Amino acid sequence: MSRTWWRGAAIYQVYLRSFADGNGDGCGDLAGLRSRLGYLKELGIDAVWLNPWYPSPMADGGYDVADYRDIEPVFGTLPEAEKFIAEAHDHGIRVIIDVVPNHSSTASAWFEEALVDRKARERFWFRDEPNDWSSIFGGPAWTQVPDGQWYLHLFAPEQPDLNWDNPEVHQEFEDVLRFWFDRGVDGFRIDSAALLFKSATGYEDLDDVHDVYRRWREIADEYGERILIGEVWLPDQERFARYLRPDELHTAFNFDFLSCPWRPAELRRVIDLTLSTHLPIGAPPTWVLSNHDVTRPVTRYGRADTAFEHGGRLHGSPSDLELGRRRARAAALLAMALPGCVYVYQGEELGLPEVEDLPDDARQDPMYARSDGANPGRDGCRVPLPWTGGEPPYGFGGPRPWLPQPEGWHGLTAQAQLADPGSMLNLYRSALRLRRDLLGDGTLSWLPSGDDVLAFGRDSGLICVSNLGAVPVPLPPGEVLLASGPLEGAALPPDTTAWLASPE
Ligand code: NOJ
Repeated sequence: MSRTWWRGAAIYQVYLRSFADGNGDGCGDLAGLRSRLGYLKELGIDAVWLNPWYPSPMADGGYDVADYRDIEPVFGTLPEAEKFIAEAHDHGIRVIIDVVPNHSSTASAWFEEALVDRKARERFWFRDEPNDWSSIFGGPAWTQVPDGQWYLHLFAPEQPDLNWDNPEVHQEFEDVLRFWFDRGVDGFRIDSAALLFKSATGYEDLDDVHDVYRRWREIADEYGERILIGEVWLPDQERFARYLRPDELHTAFNFDFLSCPWRPAELRRVIDLTLSTHLPIGAPPTWVLSNHDVTRPVTRYGRADTAFEHGGRLHGSPSDLELGRRRARAAALLAMALPGCVYVYQGEELGLPEVEDLPDDARQDPMYARSDGANPGRDGCRVPLPWTGGEPPYGFGGPRPWLPQPEGWHGLTAQAQLADPGSMLNLYRSALRLRRDLLGDGTLSWLPSGDDVLAFGRDSGLICVSNLGAVPVPLPPGEVLLASGPLEGAALPPDTTAWLASPE
């Protein structure tokens, strides 16, 4: 099996709207991202994954795509995107973009045509009568159009589902992949990858989806080292692994790890299950602590219940942010030491907490509105990044970012953290640098340890030890290369991870 870059990559997720605003309109954009490529290079990542950058009414943060072959004007232009891809490559950073094949937008040319021409409805799911499916964002999954028919939308009404029983839809997405591969992108993150097909009984993980990804893999392979990453939330690991067969997707996000509570037995179970699912099919595991859909780790790990769940998201349950930060640091070193790829969601490296007190009228996530406020939605992890200075907008650009930033983030800016050797940002930078040489692709061997400790060795000889218990534990022999917090002599304090060079 060839050992290629993506098998052990560190991939940084850019939520473009909230990364950096280059033109001062309050919304992040390509100009802002291009101006921060030096920051990303210094961070030590191998690739960026950008959430959808296509023209979109932004009913779901860009996951309502109106045109798959252009760039949202608020973000920039197609020539600028091409310039960005070239500049990222010059910085040694590969570029992965989102593709959204399950649904498009009511603002797409196809849907506008469907509204006036019934023959064009075959590209979507139009019916005379809706069934009883609910939308994943709440409310019914069907919306009626003026002539009486209904169309299916598994997410918001602005996101009509595409009909993958129609060969024209296949052709369209194959062309879209080529369009972007021809412009130099290194891979795609596939949104809602298991939902494409629908039958009378359901829509999750129907077998036909695998033929689509086999075809997409052939296309990716024609271009060389290009990759396909699946967003596949499936409880059944055997079904999950089917997406990663050698002729399908290269990798998929590890949501079991992301959702796992900060408890040693459960983490160990998830790690073992991940390895035993991936190794037999030769696919590299991925390790993900956060993304644009989930609660920020600093807040989650400071709560009594440290698991992530989509429902109410435990919004507002008390969080000890100091404890959460200590655990998030320990979890980051654990995730980065495990074999395979690691993802870092923007702001994770700054240790940003979830912003739970956004004013109701500022919230934009359709999950919030469609649940009548019962679910706070995902805006709290999408607040624009703090770069410099002592008060909002913290150098994000423009006077008023699209979501308000909290007071009190001056210590969390990239600038403040660069100056502090003990900061989260400097921990990530040191860890990603070491990881490049010593970690990534490969295997692990568990080392003997107490029940509250996770200890394993990697192929390079690096040893990773995480103490999830309440009392310090002795460190194994070896030189400490990095630790997520201060050590107590030769002991590893609670909620701390250390990396050591094994003595042999
Ligand atoms: C998954 C994406 O991560 C999420 O942000 C989006 O709302 C849904 N898919 C629908 O596209």
